[in-house]
Amino acid sequence: MTMLGFHGVFISILLASMISDSWNYEALGPGCHLHPFNVTIKSDRRGTCRGTFVVHACVGYCESSAFPSKYSVLLASNFKHNITSVSQCCTISKMQKVKVRLQCGGSRREDIEIFTAKSCQCDMCRLSRY
Ligand SMILES: *[C@@H]1O[C@H](CO)[C@@H](O)[C@H](O)[C@H]1NC(C)=O
Ligand SMILES: *[C@@H]1O[C@H](CO)[C@@H](O)[C@H](O)[C@H]1NC(C)=O
Repeated sequence: MTMLGFHGVFISILLASMISDSWNYEALGPGCHLHPFNVTIKSDRRGTCRGTFVVHACVGYCESSAFPSKYSVLLASNFKHNITSVSQCCTISKMQKVKVRLQCGGSRREDIEIFTAKSCQCDMCRLSRY
C-alpha cells in the first residue's frame, strides 16, 4: 500500500470518528481510557469497498491546574504573566495496526491496515499529530 493511500485511510477514520454518534460519554469515569467505537471505512468516494469495524480511541479526563505566577515570573513579565497553567490531555500513547477486510460487492475483498489505540495516557496537549 502506498503512503498516500494509508494516509487517506487514516484521514477517513478521523472523519468517521468525528461524525460517529456511537460515543458514550456517560459511561466515562475519571481518567483517560481506551474507548471502543465503530468506524465505517470506504475505499473511495463511491464506497466501492467498505466495512465497519470496532477501533479504540482514548477518551477521558486529565488534570489541569492554575497557580498565581511566581514573583520572579511577575517581575520578568512586567506583571502580565500573572497565571501559570499546567495541563495535560488524554492522548494515545501506543497505536496498533490491524488488518481488516473490506467487502467490495460480489465476492471481491480488499485487505487494508488501519490504526487503533492500544494504550492511553495523560500527556502534553497537542492539537494534531500529523
Ligand atoms: C457497533 O455497532 C454494532 C452494530 O450496530 C453495535 O451492536 C455495537 O454495540 C457497536 N459498538 C460500539 C462500540 O459502538
Ligand atoms: C492578569 O493580568 C491580565 C493582563 O495584565 C489582566 O487583564 C487580568 O485581569 C489579570 N488577572 C487577574 C485574575 O487578576
